[in-house]
Amino acid sequence: MTSDRIPEGVGRTAIGVARARARESARPDRLFEDPYAAAFVAAAPDGPPTVPRTEVSPARVALARHLVIRTRFFDDYLTAATRAGCTQVVVPAAGLDTRAFRLDWPAGTRVFELDTPAVLGFKERVLAEQGAQAPVPRTTLAVDLREDWAGSLVEAGFDPAARTVWLVEGLLVYLGPDEAAAVLGTIDSLSAPGSRLALTHGFNSKEQRRAGTSQVVEGIEWGPDLAPVVALWRGGLDEDPVGWLNRRGWRAEWHDRAELAVGYGRPADYVTSQRILVTAER
Ligand SMILES: C[S@@+](CC[C@H](N)C(=O)[O-])C[C@H]1O[C@@H](n2cnc3c(N)ncnc32)[C@H](O)[C@@H]1O
Repeated sequence: MTSDRIPEGVGRTAIGVARARARESARPDRLFEDPYAAAFVAAAPDGPPTVPRTEVSPARVALARHLVIRTRFFDDYLTAATRAGCTQVVVPAAGLDTRAFRLDWPAGTRVFELDTPAVLGFKERVLAEQGAQAPVPRTTLAVDLREDWAGSLVEAGFDPAARTVWLVEGLLVYLGPDEAAAVLGTIDSLSAPGSRLALTHGFNSKEQRRAGTSQVVEGIEWGPDLAPVVALWRGGLDEDPVGWLNRRGWRAEWHDRAELAVGYGRPADYVTSQRILVTAER
């Protein structure tokens, strides 16, 4: 994969997220504004196909609404965490997340973004074309998160003694249970007291996949338009992440997406309220 091509496989899911963020950013009542999302979509002409509105499945609508709610929720969470003293922001599987550029960071914040070489190559090319300038130091790290990446992060300037806020958004479901636990274990080992963590738990068991359901949009059947994404899901952590984190000295909690949606003035329908969004502090 060279940087002038668009990412394949799981990397392509980042373009799907960018598409949802571009649509939201164009709304007059938008919950956030991502000024680069549309450029990523435009630069990926063979990205996920756009289907006519009439052919969009209810599950896809649900997923798009989920992406919007979680984006706004994590925007607010990262902003609050950095204002509360977390000076490092680390985003494993950053994809085409542009928070480094668009959030209002306190002076002294440093952002680290980790993803595959393919995704980061594509991202940097588009951001350079857009003349994007991050207002705080930003370091990108091309790694495979299924391997040992702690050393690379420290070599890149990450300080394990400083308070960090981690964002693991839309990653764990693409990993197997052991791989997901290893990512969280690395985060745990690199988190100084006072650090914070936000994640999406995307548990999707083999049984759920066979039945065509998942926690993301429980009770709604997958349409064929989502099949290529669902096929990439490998389950993620196979236990309750709140319990997993609390056993390791974090104070973790769930956040109800339907309640969040209503709080943001959005309908709670198609935004199911199962256990997806987790935050934790140690
Ligand atoms: C659904 S996207 C989410 C991106 C971003 N967190 C967001 O919400 O905008 C999933 C991302 O996980 C990345 N990813 C999945 N498996 C990975 C791995 N083993 N190593 C590094 N990145 C990975 C993909 O490249 C992709 O960018």
